[in-house]
Amino acid sequence: MIKRTLTGLAASGLAALSMAALAEGDAAAGRTAAETCLGCHAVETYFNVYPTYHVPKVGGQSAAYIEAALKGYRDGSRKHDTMNANAANLTDQDIANIAAFFASQGR
Ligand code: HEC
Repeated sequence: MIKRTLTGLAASGLAALSMAALAEGDAAAGRTAAETCLGCHAVETYFNVYPTYHVPKVGGQSAAYIEAALKGYRDGSRKHDTMNANAANLTDQDIANIAAFFASQGR
């Protein structure tokens, strides 16, 4: 009985910890992780050279929006060759960090 209660407590403690870890992106780590992204997403005019297509501005977007977009590109539910390739190797923590970084920009 006591053992079961302790196990339950430990399990809920772990769940709370991992939820906090997911919610809290580290913007400084995200700045480093976003280095490759900035070549496209930090350009003033938000167009690339060829073929000419619009690159959306992600600085100042909400972290939740960026996180959802990146997870969509990573799992393929949102299709765009460039972004599918860019998101393919990101971990949940990378995405949280990158989202925190971009959300802190451009305001
Ligand atoms: C080669 C250029 C390029 C690189 C590098 C790049 N992106 Fe993108 N990104 C784009 C384009 C183009 C789109 C628009 C795709 C679409 O229409 O779905 C986009 C879309 C996005 C979106 C969705 C924006 C919206 O308004 O819905 C997010 C978020 C994003 N990129 C984040 C990133 C992150 C984070 C990285 C680095 C890991 C990255 N991108 C690297 C070109 C790039």
